[in-house]
Amino acid sequence: MSEQTLSPARANQITGQAARRRTFAVISHPDAGKSTLTEALALHAKVIGTAGATNGKSNRRETVSDWQQMEKDRGISISSAALQFSYRDAVINLLDTPGHADFSEDTYRVLAAVDCAVMLIDAAKGLETQTMKLFEVCRQRGLPIITVINKWDRPGLDALALMDEITERTGLLPMPLTWAVGIAGDFRGVWDLKQDRFVQFQRNNAGAQIALTEYFTPDQAAENLGDVWTEAVDEAGLVLDSVDDFDLEAFYAGKATPILFSSAALNFGVKELLDALVDYAPPAAARPDVDGGKRAVEAPFSGFVFKVQAGMNAAHRDHVAFIRVCSGVFERGMVVTQGRTGKSFATKYAQQVFGREREVIDEAFPGDVVGLVNASALRVGDSLFLESPVEFPAIPLFAPEHFQVARSKDPSRYKQFRRGIDQLEHEGVIQVLRSDLRGDQAPVLAAVGPMQFEVVEDRMFHDFNAPMRLERLPYSLARLTTPEAEPTLANVHGAEVLLRTDGEYLALFNDIWALRRVEKNNPDLLLVPIGTEHS
Ligand code: G4P
Repeated sequence: MSEQTLSPARANQITGQAARRRTFAVISHPDAGKSTLTEALALHAKVIGTAGATNGKSNRRETVSDWQQMEKDRGISISSAALQFSYRDAVINLLDTPGHADFSEDTYRVLAAVDCAVMLIDAAKGLETQTMKLFEVCRQRGLPIITVINKWDRPGLDALALMDEITERTGLLPMPLTWAVGIAGDFRGVWDLKQDRFVQFQRNNAGAQIALTEYFTPDQAAENLGDVWTEAVDEAGLVLDSVDDFDLEAFYAGKATPILFSSAALNFGVKELLDALVDYAPPAAARPDVDGGKRAVEAPFSGFVFKVQAGMNAAHRDHVAFIRVCSGVFERGMVVTQGRTGKSFATKYAQQVFGREREVIDEAFPGDVVGLVNASALRVGDSLFLESPVEFPAIPLFAPEHFQVARSKDPSRYKQFRRGIDQLEHEGVIQVLRSDLRGDQAPVLAAVGPMQFEVVEDRMFHDFNAPMRLERLPYSLARLTTPEAEPTLANVHGAEVLLRTDGEYLALFNDIWALRRVEKNNPDLLLVPIGTEHS
């Protein structure tokens, strides 16, 4: 086993490095501009550079993430990874979340590994279904949220109406850091409240370059823009009396959200977002463990697996386990302990992964993400550590909303079928439910988003050589229950009880009405919404 007795100087260095880290994810309803913003951030950091950065969706997808054949075919992004870059004196870790229309388990897991979320809102659409779902996940995790109102270059909603919508529907208090000058569609720039200056918006050639910025004093802006400027200042004043009222504690506590305006496609407002992250977002800090304590950042190395991805490299069909570093320093090659099994784990193949880019990583600090290649022994939620043991809280299993029965297409390949399903379950790709009635040949697969089934089908075919058939079940709702529910629901139409591999009984219902009927007729039956069982 490696050792990591840290000298005071080294411990100091780690504390300093942790304080520089800003680890976050961009979340949004599809089409709000998440990929565009990610690309704009990368461009800003000059990671990709102007040559590779384009505004076209097709080109952009190639740059950002396209490792699975299925992704290429469908133009969607399934995997997530991390982009790291330096900005001012900070180190920014941007964790990519899946960009497709389905809500997926990966999004939840990435949110377990970040310290802050950037919620992107389409100025014309306001809060959409998935924005609300994501907001709820952040609320449950106590994750601070920075809100960015995007696409201000296009006609959209009124800025104050958007603020009201945020307050009413999320309960978060909006705290503008910048305020749009000019209505949506007539974007003149933003008032940077902190610096008290006007940042003028200039169109350039479609986002391929960092936006040219010109700054003006409020007096100059008033002279140049007249009423447009005065209105912006008045409006911002209605939301936040003065920038001195910016309440960092309320932001950290998930009660208030800093607001920024942007046009990601034109790279405008991106610098302000980076500045907001550096100035306000929480740095990597001591992480709570299951025993009610906290792992200090300068303690020996620890981290947890928040995502396992297989088949990222078609040529190798390897497994990459993504680790969020929580304490100490990760050094490639060190041998760590896997908490769940107590076994040692060698970290020879450590990489930083972003899209198709992979770089060998030698050192990582709290807040950073490390991709461990050939890590098929690691599972989502596993804690890894050096010396003093630590166990971080499990990443909860999520409430599935889609259910399909899986069957092997070729009965002679049942063994491979079984092995494949078990492996995919271990990786956290799907949940597996069984019952005596259905038998072992036809397990029920359960997922948060329907895209997971395509991932399963693809993996079963390519990785396990076990082609299978899927048959959709009509259920859309699951509740945690007890074994007693099984006979009670045996003859109820639109309901069924199944046993999940972790030993939990799940009652499935066609819809809310089926659930309500059962609740009404069986008031003593335990039916607990998933995700609230520990609260
Ligand atoms: P997503 O990842 O959240 O799903 O959204 P994505 O970045 O793919 O953006 C969705 C569409 O919105 C894209 O247009 C993109 O160019 C456009 N968009 C993103 N940010 C802005 C913005 O600030 N202003 C304007 N006007 N448009 C924006 P598309 O037609 O789907 O593709 P393309 O234009 O890139 O070819």
